[in-house]
This record gives sequence, C-alpha cells and structure tokens, in this order.
Amino acid sequence: MSRVGEVLISEEEISAKVRELGARISRDYQGKDLLMVGILKGAFVFLADLVRAVTLPLRLDFLGVASYGKKTVSSEEVKVFKDLNEPVAGRNVLIVEDIIDSGITTDYLMRLLAVRSPASVKICALLDKPDRRKVTAPLDYWGFQIADRFVVGYGLDAAERYRNLPAIHLLELDDEDRLTEKGV
Ligand code: IMP
Ligand code: MG
Repeated sequence: MSRVGEVLISEEEISAKVRELGARISRDYQGKDLLMVGILKGAFVFLADLVRAVTLPLRLDFLGVASYGKKTVSSEEVKVFKDLNEPVAGRNVLIVEDIIDSGITTDYLMRLLAVRSPASVKICALLDKPDRRKVTAPLDYWGFQIADRFVVGYGLDAAERYRNLPAIHLLELDDEDRLTEKGV
C-alpha cells in the first residue's frame, strides 16, 4: 500500500503561485475571447482557484480524459470520456492541467482542439515534471517544476484517492508498489 508522505508544496505556496498565474493570464488575454478548459479530473481544484484569480469575463468548460498504458512502455493511449460543450472556433483556448508528465495527454489535446479552428490554444499546468517528457508539450504557463516523484493532493490522485488534500504531498511507495506500480 502507498502512503501520503511529506508536503512538497504547501497551501500558501500554491495560492501565491495561483495568484501570480491569474495575474499573468489576465494581462495576456485582455480584450480576447478566453475559454478556459479544465482537464478532468485532476485539474478541478486548480481550475476552481485559478478562474477566481483571473479578472476577465472568461468562459469555462471541461474536457474529461483518461490515459491508459502508464504501466507499460509501449501502449500509451488517451481516451476522451467527456467532450467540450462550448464551441472552440475563433476562441482563445487555455487548457488547464494538473501536471504534465510524459506530455502524451497534452500532445493529444493540442491535436484534438487544433482541428476545431480555435484562434489560439495554450497550456497552463500547475506542475511540470520535465525529466519524464516523452513527447514535446509546449507549456505556456506553469506553476512548479518538480523532480520525478509521484505526488498527490490538490486534485491529484493515486488510484482515485487523496484528491481532497489541500497541499501537494509526496506519495511514499512501498516495495510491492514499486514492483507492480499498484496504487499509482
Ligand atoms: P502525461 O500524459 O504522461 O503527461 O500524464 C498526465 C497525467 O498523468 C496527469 O494529468 C495526471 O493525471 C497523471 N499524473 C502524472 N504524474 C502524476 C503524479 O505525480 N501524481 C498524480 N497524477 C500524475
Ligand atoms: Mg490520475
């Protein structure tokens, strides 16, 4: 079984960073038709805080994706389980993600949205694990770059648990988890 470990990023650090990102987004998208798209489920907490730090008359929508094959090297694929309700054509889309890991989800989302003729598509992720990247993910806004460690809390899960923790914690894996990657 995995256990929640020490705090990696505190509530205070997160909220300061969210305010900073919100201010930048507010400046960059002034006068533009902004559609913020939260990627379910992991981004729901970050998105809720981030939209309240943006001082523009934005629109909001959700896209639900699940990625499979994380436990194998060969068969990574992304499945959309909830598509957007809002039209994208002519709008400036800002994708809001919890964490960019391999970059596969982000790459898939960019291609999914590009064919719907948006005015622009940019990416905002709270966390970035640059050492894990397998495909290029053009990150326009990010909160924190972290090392290759599994983290939970503030929306992020391990096997659907810990999303409700207010801070971001390291997940402690025991030897069995390490061998089977169970719990992540
Ligand atoms: P990517 O397609 O490999 O970039 O995967 C991104 C997704 O993997 C994120 O949206 C998370 O759901 C999940 N993920 C990657 N690293 C972590 C982590 O450290 N904790 C929790 N979820 C993670
Ligand atoms: Mg997950």
